[in-house]
Amino acid sequence: MKLMVTGGAGFIGSAVVRLAIARGLSVVNVDKLTYSANPASLASVEDHSAYAFEQADIADAEAMKAVLARHQPDAVMHLAAESHVDRSIDGPLAFVHTNVTGTAVLLEAVRAYLPTLEAGKRDTFRFHHVSTDEVFGALGMADRPFDETTAYAPNSPYSASKAASDHLVRAWGETFGVPYVLTNCSNNYGPFQFPEKLIPVVVLRALAGLPVPVYGQGLNVRDWLYVEDHAEALLLVLEKGRLGETYCIGGEAERRNIDLVKTLCLSLDAIQPAASPHARLIEFVTDRPGHDLRYAIDIAKIRGELGWSPRTPIEEGLERTVHWYRDNETWWRPLLERDGVGRRLGLSSF
Ligand code: NAD
Ligand code: DAU
Repeated sequence: MKLMVTGGAGFIGSAVVRLAIARGLSVVNVDKLTYSANPASLASVEDHSAYAFEQADIADAEAMKAVLARHQPDAVMHLAAESHVDRSIDGPLAFVHTNVTGTAVLLEAVRAYLPTLEAGKRDTFRFHHVSTDEVFGALGMADRPFDETTAYAPNSPYSASKAASDHLVRAWGETFGVPYVLTNCSNNYGPFQFPEKLIPVVVLRALAGLPVPVYGQGLNVRDWLYVEDHAEALLLVLEKGRLGETYCIGGEAERRNIDLVKTLCLSLDAIQPAASPHARLIEFVTDRPGHDLRYAIDIAKIRGELGWSPRTPIEEGLERTVHWYRDNETWWRPLLERDGVGRRLGLSSF
């Protein structure tokens, strides 16, 4: 089985690539290598004979056509995206370019590729679109978690662009018969996450003795999933999910931001006792515009149909993540020099 992964040099994509190679799949990774990519995340597989890399923009129609023709994949898992909400507030059009136009261009390339396949391969081909729970908008504290029947109500330019891409995938399935599966997942965390998202920001700033920014009062709730558990779920849906279906994926680990940050600080206290308590570094800062209050996922469908549930308890995953960042400075140090890193993003208004 040859899998084409888009965005495989990013956080979740690289976890998928590493797992797929470990399971004996061949992988071609198509990635533009934007600011959030780090080829070092693929050091363990880059010399493997089953791994190939193509640097390309998913919005480049000729490049997508050429990559499909050259590698003849049996499936495409589409993760390439602009993924950071705060950056989508400062520069929404990059999100429209990659997440909307890029997805449409990729779907068109797949549509043209399908008839070139022999019948057997065409019958088993599938396009797996990897999306987010943010397309459903924000939950109140007493609301039932999101599930596959929840109406779309995106609030940020990021989530609106992902919602648009979900609709495009569905339309290409209904209208052109592109065989697809779609997943909407909650917040991922773990090794190799770019240091602009909450958990690596907290860990790296606290390790350096810098203020730890918590938006608003830290009362927003996210549902956290260890990235390697997500990668397992994705390969399972790719293999066994029903065509044309959506699966919601989550960690069953809702935490208020402030509680999560304090847990990370306690873990850092054990690593750097002399700098304890790290919680003294917490600083409440101006809230994110349009900040979604709460995300939570009901995973009954994927659990019932495919037997998946999150494997890593959050306390264990957070502990592992803190230790990973402490031990892998060569991975993250160069990323601190990249545009926007270490600066407060997402406060733009009129
Ligand atoms: P990331 O920002 O770490 O990685 C994105 C990757 O896509 C990078 O390697 C980047 O170079 C590549 N890319 C960006 N634009 C591209 C383009 N035009 N052409 C080709 N490659 C391009 O993101 P992530 O956190 O790993 O998220 C991956 C996917 O999972 C995204 O689609 C995101 O919406 C979705 N998702 C993320 C989370 C999360 O918590 N991080 C949760 C649910 C869903
Ligand atoms: O729910 C899935 C989504 O999770 C993915 O689709 C996105 O790609 C991913 O970035 C993530 O979005 P969030 O906006 O939830 O993640 P982020 O890490 O940016 O923020 C998590 C929470 O922490 C959010 O409530 C904002 C808050 N926050 C964030 C940062 C970066 C802070 O309080 N301080 C910070 O410095």
